[in-house]
Amino acid sequence: RPSLMRSASQVLRRRRSYSSASGQPERKVAILGAAGGIGQPLSLLMKLNPLVSSLSLYDIAGTPGVAADVSHINSPAQVKGFMGDDQLGEALEGSDIVIIPAGVPRKPGMTRDDLFNINAGIVKNLCTAIAKYCPNALVNMISNPVNSTVPIAAEVFKKAGTYDEKRLFGVTTLDVVRAKTFYAGKANVHVTDVNVPVVGGHAGITILPLFSQATPATNALSAEDIKALTKRTQDGGTEVVEAKAGKGSATLSMAYAGAVFANACLKGLNGVPDVVECSFVQSTVTELPFFASKVKLGKNGVEEVLGLGQLSDFEKEGLENLKGELKTSIEKGIKFANEN
Ligand code: NAI
Repeated sequence: RPSLMRSASQVLRRRRSYSSASGQPERKVAILGAAGGIGQPLSLLMKLNPLVSSLSLYDIAGTPGVAADVSHINSPAQVKGFMGDDQLGEALEGSDIVIIPAGVPRKPGMTRDDLFNINAGIVKNLCTAIAKYCPNALVNMISNPVNSTVPIAAEVFKKAGTYDEKRLFGVTTLDVVRAKTFYAGKANVHVTDVNVPVVGGHAGITILPLFSQATPATNALSAEDIKALTKRTQDGGTEVVEAKAGKGSATLSMAYAGAVFANACLKGLNGVPDVVECSFVQSTVTELPFFASKVKLGKNGVEEVLGLGQLSDFEKEGLENLKGELKTSIEKGIKFANEN
């Protein structure tokens, strides 16, 4: 008996010192759509993130299995699964970050805008619950069309009286991930050393990679090469949709990108200085109300929306060409949120 009690108190002591040894604030991350193609690998990657203390996995189906599975991994984050509308509140309560990959993905021949009718409603419902249960959380919107779902979220939060433009992010990290890989391959440099800002929006020509600002700089690339790299970055999603031939869109690289972006948000919240990622946010960088550009992340979310920097003539032309489509997509989102 005494030896049992001793071992129990040793376990408790070890547990306490373990959580204080990490020296990190407790952070809860919720993933909505956690049982999906993106949701599952994203749940895995967030479980591996040492900055996460609590991981809440929500979906309309399948989350008990995903949560049980992920929970066996040897990392500190405590995992819980939630399923169905009546568990959404509990899933969200106390969240510091809510990542949303809920909704349907593209099939060959579809544009991201073709997803609007289904995903707009899903995003609207989920954001209504966020406004109620965790109005201060940073929202990482992955569900497409991001160019419209982010404005929908903003409208929902405005109506609920909880909107804070510093806390709403469209996740465009996959465009950056692709631009880096394609640039590294063409310029023959290590991808881990590469950085490429990608601005504008997250669909077709609204995706504008700024290869003139890519680092490490190279003069090995011709104007034709840059044009081809730009087009490949813009069509990167379609490349995957076609290769998957009806089985959906990017899930694994998207989960990676989502995990990179959420990690940057967590670092910002925890006070790490100079955390910068591209994201589609409320913006005054152009005349459009939302725009993707480099964003500095801090304790309240967006600390500063950074400008575009110097653009090449090719990029200036791309910027002018994307504004019409991006404006239409933003307005479509706002209209939907106000009419439904
Ligand atoms: P999927 O169909 O494999 O998974 C979606 C999940 O959402 C399913 O598990 C489904 O049950 C769940 N879901 C549906 N309605 C829900 C609701 N009301 N609440 C919670 N969960 C709900 O789709 P996948 O491949 O994971 O893609 C998800 C979304 O991410 C799509 O809209 C896709 O277009 C988008 N996407 C965005 C990218 C980006 O760069 N931002 C890249 C790739 C995909």
